Amino acid sequence: MTMTIRNLTRRFGQTEVLRGIDLTVEKGELVALLGPSGSGKTTLLRIISGLDWPDAGQLTVAGGDWLAKKAEERRTGFVFQHYALFPHMKVRDNIAFGLTVLPRDRRPPPVQIRARVAELLQFLQIPHLADRYPSELSGGQRQRVALGRALAIDPEVLLLDEPFGALDAQVRRDLRRWLREVHDATGTTTIFVTHDQEEAFELADRVVVMGAGQIEQIGRPDEIYDHPASPFTARFLGLTVEIPVNLRAGRIEAPGLDGSALSRRAMADGPATLFLRPSDITPVPDPEGAFRITEAVSTGALLRLRLEGPADCIAEAELPRRAGVPGLIPGQRVRLRPEAGQIFPGGPGPVQAAAVPSLKTKESLQ
Ligand SMILES: Nc1ncnc2c1ncn2[C@@H]1O[C@H](COP(=O)(O)OP(=O)(O)O)[C@@H](O)[C@H]1O
Ligand SMILES: [Mg+2]
Repeated sequence: MTMTIRNLTRRFGQTEVLRGIDLTVEKGELVALLGPSGSGKTTLLRIISGLDWPDAGQLTVAGGDWLAKKAEERRTGFVFQHYALFPHMKVRDNIAFGLTVLPRDRRPPPVQIRARVAELLQFLQIPHLADRYPSELSGGQRQRVALGRALAIDPEVLLLDEPFGALDAQVRRDLRRWLREVHDATGTTTIFVTHDQEEAFELADRVVVMGAGQIEQIGRPDEIYDHPASPFTARFLGLTVEIPVNLRAGRIEAPGLDGSALSRRAMADGPATLFLRPSDITPVPDPEGAFRITEAVSTGALLRLRLEGPADCIAEAELPRRAGVPGLIPGQRVRLRPEAGQIFPGGPGPVQAAAVPSLKTKESLQ
């Protein structure tokens, strides 16, 4: 079954929280919705599951109109960040819950429910937890159980809203791998919400970048990582260094910048902004260089440099500390060699105007 979302809009009062979402999710796909807090990810999931309703737009699954269906008719499984397990029920009863509350005509007999639960406990590698209560589980174990509960009804669509957000880094990584295995074995169409880039990129077949109620970009993880399509996506994906440049015949020109490693762009001549990841900048010691190191900090693995360039341009570079390039100390001058980066037309003025919210108040508009 394919899920198709067309021009979905949701307002809360005057605020447009979803502004015309168009998205197609294919059967068996694992799609990550990636975006900063407040970008509308949870609202979109709630609408898909039937916990909330859009003001306009369409939502179809396998050609059927889901907006005409109530939540309980949609067969979605939902896992939230904060474990919503029933505290007074053992793990096996939590997992069975969705089946025991089905309408009588669709509810399997108790012996089948027990068999389904036993099968899921095995499959999710948690049979030893069957008779525990949620308070006797770690955070990671609770989320495994929550996924079991969501899968018990054999959902058409599985919706996961930052399910690992409250767990520590190592547990998150383990669960990520485990979830991908579970997904590959069940083939359940899955939408996974996260604000963590690494999580989205490692897990998903496709990543949907959301910003302020709109889809900024859809693509395979590597595609998005290498070619962020907008200044918003670039900044969100860590291309935090912005250097004003001039484009001439597809090449960048700027004082102190050696653009020879960047491929030629099919872009018009004129002012542009180069977006870079600090780790994609190689600083080359050069007494004539236009950038000056003002700060050098070691994180153990990395050496992080703060650099001041012409026209108040501030850059940051990050390189393996063990590379041990001599001369990278405060006060020294360098030129910068970007190894990869993204160029958007327009100088710092227009590019920034797109991202910085307007500070105009009602009064100042009058
Ligand atoms: N029930 C609601 N009433 C009013 N505003 C809401 C409601 N739910 C969400 N919002 C607002 O909608 C925006 C998007 O929220 P949300 O979908 O939770 O974003 P995300 O999950 O990406 O953090 C936020 O600005 C939030 O404050
Ligand atoms: Mg949310």
